[in-house]
Amino acid sequence: VKKPIPKTKELDSTLSLINEGFDFLPSRRKELQSDIFETRLLGKKSLCIAGEEAAAVFYDNKYFKRKGAAPKPLKKTLLGEGGIHGRDGEDHHHQKRMFLSMMTPERLEDMKRLAIEELDRKASEWEGMEQVLLLDEIEEVLARSVMNWAGLPLKESEVKQRTQELVAMVDSFGGSLTRFKEGAEARKSHEAWLKGIITDIRERVYSPPSYTPAYIVAMQKTPEGKFLDLEVAAVDLNNAYRPIIAAAYLIVFGALAIHEYPEMKAKLQADENNFSKLFAQEVRRYYPFAPAMAAKANRDFVWHGYHVKEGMLVVLDLFGTNRHPDLWDNADEFIPERFADWKGSPFAFVPQGGGHHHAGHRCAGEWMTVMVMQSFFKYLTENISYKVPEQDLSYDMARMPTMPKSRFIISDVMKIR
Ligand code: HEM
Repeated sequence: VKKPIPKTKELDSTLSLINEGFDFLPSRRKELQSDIFETRLLGKKSLCIAGEEAAAVFYDNKYFKRKGAAPKPLKKTLLGEGGIHGRDGEDHHHQKRMFLSMMTPERLEDMKRLAIEELDRKASEWEGMEQVLLLDEIEEVLARSVMNWAGLPLKESEVKQRTQELVAMVDSFGGSLTRFKEGAEARKSHEAWLKGIITDIRERVYSPPSYTPAYIVAMQKTPEGKFLDLEVAAVDLNNAYRPIIAAAYLIVFGALAIHEYPEMKAKLQADENNFSKLFAQEVRRYYPFAPAMAAKANRDFVWHGYHVKEGMLVVLDLFGTNRHPDLWDNADEFIPERFADWKGSPFAFVPQGGGHHHAGHRCAGEWMTVMVMQSFFKYLTENISYKVPEQDLSYDMARMPTMPKSRFIISDVMKIR
């Protein structure tokens, strides 16, 4: 039997999404008492879904494609135009293999080492500072180390500009016009820089090691044996390191958790049963970063009695799935230990997308993210001591991405020697 799909009262929900942010999808699902509902987003009829089974169908390539799914403003800022996010089928697999080839265990260790070295250098500076804005500092630490990791020739005089560009791109989604403009400008400037580097590598004027993303993307060939189009190569290269900036938000949320649940500090220090990993996973589940993903149905099909029409935009609620009460006990509580005996479903825990890394669109940087977060949480609890002065640590669920309003200030930093 065909079931009618519940609809939102409002005809078009774009403004509600911008105004309510991370709360929009979960609150409409609650109101309509349904894990599936229909509305319009940017004027297009859209189906919003959440939960483990919803994620399983969303990441089944038989039913969905990405071409034409991402909204134009996102391509101008966060994602870039013509890159991996919007590709399908063999074309996607070909590109995805390239990204995953950058993420060998050795290269992940390299990134962790570079990031911790940079963090340690920064911590020495923090010792002399009255107040440290942790979010901004971690962003710079990650930007410096990841550009080094990616094989980019970064001059000291350029660090500030390139870091700000990466931050502006990542901070640009969520509907603020000011942040959109900054993100679009940043992308233009950053891509122009990358196009120059890619050309230099192709002309052998600049030769980074062959295992770096800069070299791999510059020399990557299409199945027809040609170099990637220069514009697309710049987008792809950027996709191979920019996203680690997102981890800065999560690292700061982790610092917030350490502050709000004081028992976490000793547990992280002892690190029994790899507690720091459980902690990093719970930070990724509990705190908001990526709200949702969009795809287009590539055929008519019936899902749980609901008819999905070919071409329909379908939005998967990532944050709501991570907090879904059917999937998680006490879903709205911060409990790292829940991951100790977690069975590891690829569809119930989707902070960086779901499904399979190779076959689908699941994030290529997930292992790097977890490794870096885990090592930063250990560093913050074992290698330095600090105070958290009075400040506004609340975070606005309507802002996407969001962060503690104070950007997390620490003081009295001392390295433990
Ligand atoms: C895809 C989130 C870190 C590279 C994605 C997707 C999300 C995401 C939601 C889309 C999944 C989909 O299309 O269904 C995040 C978050 C991160 C993070 C929250 C950190 C907190 C990274 C890092 C890298 C990276 C560190 C690389 C160094 C990519 C790439 C894709 C992707 C290349 C496209 C995969 C594809 O379309 O096949 N990420 N990511 N991400 N991410 Fe990440």
